[in-house]
Amino acid sequence: MATTATTWGSRIGFILAGAGSAIGLGSIWKFPFWAGINGGSGFIIPYIIFTFTIGITLLIAELVVGRAGRGSALHALKHLGGPVFSVMGGIAVLTSFVILSYYSVVGGWCVKYLFDSLCGELVTNDPKVLQATFGALVGDGLTNSLWHFSFLTLTCGVVALGVVNGIERLSKYLLPTLFILMIVIMIRSLSLPGAMEGVKFLFDFSFDKLTWMSVLNAMGFTFFSLSLGCGIMVTYGAYLKDSTDIPNSSLWIAYLAIQTALLAGLMIMPAVFAMGQDPNAGPGLVFVTIPFIFSQIPFGWCFMILFNVCLLVAALTSSVSLLEVCIAYLQNEWHMKRISASILCYVGLALLGCVSALSFGVWSEVKIFDRIIFDFLDWFCSNIMMPLGGLSIALLAGWKAWNSTYIQVNLVRKYSASANSFIKFSLRFLAPLLVLVVIATGV
Ligand code: PFF
Repeated sequence: MATTATTWGSRIGFILAGAGSAIGLGSIWKFPFWAGINGGSGFIIPYIIFTFTIGITLLIAELVVGRAGRGSALHALKHLGGPVFSVMGGIAVLTSFVILSYYSVVGGWCVKYLFDSLCGELVTNDPKVLQATFGALVGDGLTNSLWHFSFLTLTCGVVALGVVNGIERLSKYLLPTLFILMIVIMIRSLSLPGAMEGVKFLFDFSFDKLTWMSVLNAMGFTFFSLSLGCGIMVTYGAYLKDSTDIPNSSLWIAYLAIQTALLAGLMIMPAVFAMGQDPNAGPGLVFVTIPFIFSQIPFGWCFMILFNVCLLVAALTSSVSLLEVCIAYLQNEWHMKRISASILCYVGLALLGCVSALSFGVWSEVKIFDRIIFDFLDWFCSNIMMPLGGLSIALLAGWKAWNSTYIQVNLVRKYSASANSFIKFSLRFLAPLLVLVVIATGV
């Protein structure tokens, strides 16, 4: 069984690649509308708490398993846990593949919106036009599939270049650019009259906003947003040098993920409130409400372009991480070359993605558990597969391979006994318990 010899070029390169994976459509597309649907701070506060407790410990655990096991997610889990865990590793690879197939469809919408905003086509005073534009894109299977192919081409192109020359370089240049653009848009959004209502909506906390559902949703979102449970951080961990401090790097990744989600909220909600729009607009928030808002404000077209660049950058730095899980697997287990593995994945993902792309139009009648195929895959992966992946990592790193976990955590710097106890307690009891709750309510 081959193990990997590739390592990240630098620690900062790894942190940005890890943060790039975490910061994706989840942060910019899902977070604002989920915060909107779940009553703002009633969702945000639990999300921050979960991220800095179970989120961070599972992130540490995945990186630890990756570095101790080296190789693909399947190889690493098998190496540390034996045959049962190797099955879980295989499931993680499959989960990444399936997620990427539908993630890429949304990525395709981002490419299309960037293209349209560059052509000035999204500027209109009529929200119905934007609704119709979005409906036409999503409802037409062929158009939807073609944009999905375009996004997939970008993703496979970057990954085919390699870990350091492709993924690390992309994240190193694009992530700082993303932060700057988001800050510029946030300032513009906050400068609109009435914007403070949006800030209050996000951060004014009262206990009646905290519902059972908003807490559960926040827990599920923590998984999605930190890219946990589908082998990404295990795969990235395999490329870590022994001199990289895993807990410290994980803190940075979690911090950057939260900061970006909050920036996205501050970029979108103040503008939504200032323009009298509905914060509960759901998935259409960034593809319908935002273009409408930018159409109304001076130089809005310019901010619309910047906003769509942000969406595409975020989507791309995440999609490459999902693909890398599959590529590492094909390289390690099937001894394929990176280029051939990328081409094979391209073909498989293009086909599977078409199923999701068609599910908004001609196949919208096909329902699984009352959901169209796209929604079913998203629900199944986010609520069942990723939590299951998280559970197996917690059990492996917390129980079966605790000694390796301890060594890896303290390899660069000896952490205090209380920090180690917290990680152990969280992996052994807290994370499994909360993950089981997520799965039970998801089902
Ligand atoms: N964490 C990224 C996001 O929030 O968009 C990307 C992602 C990776 C999403 C893995 C889901 C996932 F399973």
